[in-house]
Amino acid sequence: MNPFLSGLSPEKAPLSPDSPAGPLARPVAGSGILIVFEGMDGSGKSTQARNLKARLDGLAHPSVLTKEPGGTAAGARLREILLDPALPLAPEAELFLFEADRVMHVKTLLLPELRAGKTVLSDRLSDATVAYQSFGGGLSREFVSTLNDAALGGLVPDLTFLLDLPVAEISRRVLERGDGPTRFELLGAAYFERVRAGYLELARIHSSRTVVLDATHDPGQLEEQIWETLCRRFPGRFLPEGMRA
Ligand code: TYD
Repeated sequence: MNPFLSGLSPEKAPLSPDSPAGPLARPVAGSGILIVFEGMDGSGKSTQARNLKARLDGLAHPSVLTKEPGGTAAGARLREILLDPALPLAPEAELFLFEADRVMHVKTLLLPELRAGKTVLSDRLSDATVAYQSFGGGLSREFVSTLNDAALGGLVPDLTFLLDLPVAEISRRVLERGDGPTRFELLGAAYFERVRAGYLELARIHSSRTVVLDATHDPGQLEEQIWETLCRRFPGRFLPEGMRA
C-alpha cells in the first residue's frame, strides 16, 4: 500500500496545511501502488516498464503505464521544449519545466489512478531530477528537493527499480541508436558519471524502496528479477497467495 494513501510517508513528516506541498497533498482512498523505473538513457528501463505492463495486462491486473517528462497533454508540450537541442535553457528554467510536468502528472494522472486502486508504472519520477539536475547539472540538492517535494505533494513511490549501467556501456548503447546528436554527446561522459553516482546515492538513502538492478544483464533475466521482486513485495496483489512467481 502506498504510504501516501494512508496519509503516512516513512520518508517525510506528515505535511502541514501550510507546507509548500500542502495544496497538492490530500489523503487518498484506495489501494493503488506506484512503481517507478529509473536509470540513465539507454539503460533499458522503458523496455522493462513496457514488459511489466504487458505482463499485468495478460493477468487482467488493472494498471497504467506513464512517464516523465510527457505523461500528460501539457507534459507532452513541455517535453518538446525540454528535449529540443536547439533551445538552450538555463538550468533553473529546465528544472522548473520538469517540475511543471511533474505537477500535472501527479495531479491529473498519478493520484487519480492510485485512488482508483491501479498499479501505476512510471518511467521516471523525482529521483531523475536529483540525479540529472543536481548531481549532473550542479543545481543545489536542497533547491531541487524542495521543488520535488512541492510537485509530489507527499507522494512517494512504493518501489523504485534503478537500472544501473556503467557509463561506457550507456555511451555504446546510445551511440548505437544513432539518432543524431544525442544528449549524451552534448553533455559528455563526466556528466553521466555524476548522474550515475547520484542515482546510486539515492538508492542507498532510500534503500527500503529502491531495488538496484544490474542492467548489463539480459533483458529477459531482468524482467524475471523485477517480477519476482514484485510478487515478493506485494504478496497476493498480482498472483493469488501461495502461487509462485
Ligand atoms: P526519457 O524520456 O526517460 O528518455 P530516454 O527514454 O531516452 O531515457 O527522459 C528524457 C530525458 O529527460 C532524459 O535524458 C532524462 C531527462 N530527465 C531529466 O534530466 N530530469 C528529470 O527530472 C526527468 C524526469 C528526466
